[in-house]
Amino acid sequence: MATAAPSGGDIRADAAVHLRGRVREIARTRARVARRVVGREHELDLILAAVAAGRDLLLEGPPGASKSTLLRAIAAEWGIPVLFVEGNVDLTPAKLIGHHDPARVLQEGYRVDNFVDGPLVKAMRLGGFLYIEEFNRAPDDTRNALLTAMAEREIEIPRVGHLSAASTFRVVATMNPHDNVGTTRLSSSVTDRFNRVAVTYQDAADELRIVALRAPLADGDLPAELARALRADAVDLTRATRAHPDVRQGSSVRGAIDLTLVGANLMAMRGVSEAGGARLDHDPARQSYAATVLDAMTVALSGRIHLDEAVQTTPEAVLREIWEDHFLLNPAAAKPG
Ligand SMILES: Nc1ncnc2c1ncn2[C@@H]1O[C@H](COP(=O)(O)OP(=O)(O)OP(=O)(O)O)[C@@H](O)[C@H]1O
Ligand SMILES: [Mg+2]
Repeated sequence: MATAAPSGGDIRADAAVHLRGRVREIARTRARVARRVVGREHELDLILAAVAAGRDLLLEGPPGASKSTLLRAIAAEWGIPVLFVEGNVDLTPAKLIGHHDPARVLQEGYRVDNFVDGPLVKAMRLGGFLYIEEFNRAPDDTRNALLTAMAEREIEIPRVGHLSAASTFRVVATMNPHDNVGTTRLSSSVTDRFNRVAVTYQDAADELRIVALRAPLADGDLPAELARALRADAVDLTRATRAHPDVRQGSSVRGAIDLTLVGANLMAMRGVSEAGGARLDHDPARQSYAATVLDAMTVALSGRIHLDEAVQTTPEAVLREIWEDHFLLNPAAAKPG
């Protein structure tokens, strides 16, 4: 016989070759993304596996836990556009899908070419990632409008027609599950259509590397030893805001980055040139260093920490407590060696 239907064995062999090719491609992307992101190897594997499989994804975690950083890095490596949308009560289905330009409608009537694409339609046309932040703040009807696009990979736009999504179109939604202001619970018809990857804060060593990357202090800015001490203290103090009993939500690594940058400027302005010894008492250099760190903490962290509603204190008082624990009660931890 000249032609024969492929046997089951051939189909399985084809599928295996295809999968091996895809795994190699994922491994290459993973290596390139890893150069832009500190740590997060495990999460990166999970996200890449889901997105490469053509699935939509819900990324859950507190603010500043590298959700956008991971997604941007993956999209950049694949050359895929990302369309960012902020989830809030004003995000109507029309804002997501698009609208006809009202001025042109008055002159020309409804036409396909006076339709202004919203981010969902753009992402479907371009094969991009539609990245919806704070997904649990978007209204229910907007979330439902997404469901058809996700399930069918196509939508019907009134007076425009049918649109099929390019193959790389994905919906990636993010939310902080502990955010209880202005949020609503996702219905099970929404959650049933998503895969989910949860991220938490990274460990202190990773956060130190992130701060070194994002708050690179040039040699001329601060003496290297002082810059090292400031970064280490910024990371420890910021992490302590997450463990304080009066704090509902502490600061992310963004606070440590800003504490380092603000602290470095204050130190340069005040002529602080060293972090001093291990103890505060009888060490003026240590005292002026620690006082400057307290000022920088107030600027960088007081707006970022959210206190428990039941407590009678202020962010400044909580930060001062954390500072005292760090510099007075636990001086050995304040300066290793
Ligand atoms: N793993 C990481 N590698 C490099 N930079 C990081 C990492 N994690 C966080 N950052 C830096 O910390 C900041 C916050 O990260 P990012 O914007 O990714 O957080 P997010 O989870 O998207 O936060 P949000 O929920 O508020 O949008 C950014 O400046 C980013 O550069
Ligand atoms: Mg983000």
